[in-house]
Order: sequence, then C-alpha cells, then structure tokens
Amino acid sequence: MSENYLEKIYGVDDADKQRDVYDQWAASYDADLTDADYETPGRIARALKSVLRDSEMSAPVLDFGCGTGLSGLALTDAGFTRIHGADVSEGMLREAEAKQVYEKLTALPTGNPDPGLVSRYRLVTAMGAISPGAAPASCLPAIFMALPSGGRVALSFNDRAQADEEYSRTLERVTDSSEAVVELDEDGPHVRSAGSTARVLVIRRR
Ligand SMILES: C[S@@+](CC[C@H](N)C(=O)[O-])C[C@H]1O[C@@H](n2cnc3c(N)ncnc32)[C@H](O)[C@@H]1O
Repeated sequence: MSENYLEKIYGVDDADKQRDVYDQWAASYDADLTDADYETPGRIARALKSVLRDSEMSAPVLDFGCGTGLSGLALTDAGFTRIHGADVSEGMLREAEAKQVYEKLTALPTGNPDPGLVSRYRLVTAMGAISPGAAPASCLPAIFMALPSGGRVALSFNDRAQADEEYSRTLERVTDSSEAVVELDEDGPHVRSAGSTARVLVIRRR
C-alpha cells in the first residue's frame, strides 16, 4: 500500500479535499480494500437480497457512493442484474466504469443525492458511503425521503459513524420515523484486518 488512505481519509473533513483524496486513491483502492478483507459490500448485497422477492431482484439498484465498483461487483455476485452507480469522485467513477458491472454511472458534483435521481429507484444502496470520511449524515434522510413508497435503502453504518453524534442521531431520526420500517439491522465485520465493524441496515419506506 503506497499510502495509508484507509486511515488518512477519516482525517479529511472538507468535502473538496476529500474528493481529491478519493481521486488519488482510486487506482490503489481495490487492492487496499481487498487486502484488508473489506466485508461490507457482500454483507449489504446479501442483506438486501434476503428481504426481496425473486421478482424484485431485476429492479434497477442505485449504488450511491459506488466508488470503484466493489459494491457493484458484490451486487452482481448476489444476483442483482441492473446496477446504476453515482459518486462525487471522477477518479472512482472511472475505475467503476472499467469493471463493466454498471448499466449507468452518474457524477454527483455537489455531493448531494439528487432527489430527482433517487426517486426513480425502489432500491438504493450506500456501502461504506455515509460515514465520517465519506458522504455527510444529511445524505441519509435525503435519500430516504426521496424513495418512492415501498422503496428500500440498504446501507452500512460503521463504528466511526456510530460513535459520531451527528451521524448516529441522523440514523435514529430516520429509523424512528413513522415512514420507516427497519427490515434488517445486523452488526458484523466492516474492514476485517482493521478490526472495524459496521451495522448493516435495510430500511423500507412505507
Ligand atoms: C469508502 S468509499 C466506498 C465505495 C464503495 N461503495 C465501496 O464499497 O467500495 C466512499 C465513496 O463515497 C464517495 N462519496 C463521498 N462523499 C460523497 C457524496 N457526498 N456523494 C456521493 N458519493 C460520495 C467517495 O467518493 C467514495 O467513492
């Protein structure tokens, strides 16, 4: 690993600087995360599949904060067939495109989940994407409230997000909302070699 981006990224608060770090990290991201036993994408893809009927597996999935596409690969491995990705980092999106698992990729230059985009999906994933060092907590309610009735968001909430008051309060506000049904909420490994953990949740909008 040329530079320890896995640690470095958590120290970058400014959104523009963070995007630059992801741009620089893109070329070595897959090797770094694979070496570190990154478990979250597989966990989320299997969790989402577990709450769906077979006929729902062919619905398009919006992979918010898709990065280099490790999350798209995990969705493909779980049997999802139509995967669209969105991310702020052009460098990460270029790597995602090369994997050829996404039907469509969208750049989100402002870092906000465009409600017009999200509202077209019944399935949205955010794998390692809403966390200190990644998208702000506000992206979660923005995604959730843009979902159509019956739509689902499947996401990870790592231990750093759980320890952060703003992130944890925001998650609680969403899960406690009368609009939300938490279909799955499981603790487990996040980046195994770092000893980090994450909650994986599937939340359906009534
Ligand atoms: C830790 S990576 C996870 C990437 C991928 N989902 C995975 O599991 O490998 C976090 C990703 O979120 C993206 N990101 C950060 N802030 C974002 C925002 N506000 N909107 C969309 N993507 C964002 C980063 O560019 C990066 O690709």
